[in-house]
Amino acid sequence: MRTSNYGIKDIILNRWSPRAMSGENIPDDEMMALFEAAGWAPSSYNGQPWRFVYAKRDSGSWNGFFSLMSEFNQSWTKNAAVLVIVVSKKTFDRNSKPSRTHAFDSGAAWENLALEASGRGLVAHAMEGFDYERAAKIINLPSEHEIHCMVAVGKPGKKDDLPEKLREKEEMSGRRPLEEIVIEGKFR
Ligand SMILES: Cc1cc2nc3c(=O)[nH]c(=O)nc-3n(C[C@H](O)[C@H](O)[C@H](O)COP(=O)(O)O)c2cc1C
Repeated sequence: MRTSNYGIKDIILNRWSPRAMSGENIPDDEMMALFEAAGWAPSSYNGQPWRFVYAKRDSGSWNGFFSLMSEFNQSWTKNAAVLVIVVSKKTFDRNSKPSRTHAFDSGAAWENLALEASGRGLVAHAMEGFDYERAAKIINLPSEHEIHCMVAVGKPGKKDDLPEKLREKEEMSGRRPLEEIVIEGKFR
């Protein structure tokens, strides 16, 4: 159980990254709601550099996406409903200049997606354990774009159905104390 010292909202405190998923599909409307939530993130000049490339488990794209992942990540994402590759465009549409914050903006969008998923009782779990170069080929990544991570989305499953090694990890993690991450004025 997570606790807050300052009364932060439950939606933030209760989001976490489970691995147990049921293998069921998610209705398209629900999936689109997650992308819609992601799209409401703030971004520099409202440039909205995030792009979400997805594969549903019963689609022709699934095997390609699935094959990108490390064995570890495959061991639990096999029960996901959707795999999403989070991409951002590195230049602004408005003037073609490089964006300093495209990755930062897209990180905010992913968190919106995760919060919406969590609020709806769905799992959304980010991953960097996959082959980024091959992913770029598979999704036909345009130039001036960058892949940031993959997200497994699904309906929650039973902890007991996870591979044994993962069962003990299936719990909410803690966080560093604020003193370690908040700095007044300058680093000391
Ligand atoms: C960018 C990113 C990459 C991650 N990569 C993996 C991964 O490859 N495999 C995995 O099982 N979890 C991965 N995670 C999940 C983190 O381990 C998890 O978010 C972190 O331990 C905090 O736990 P919480 O999300 O449950 O609060 C990743 C998370 C992020 C944000």
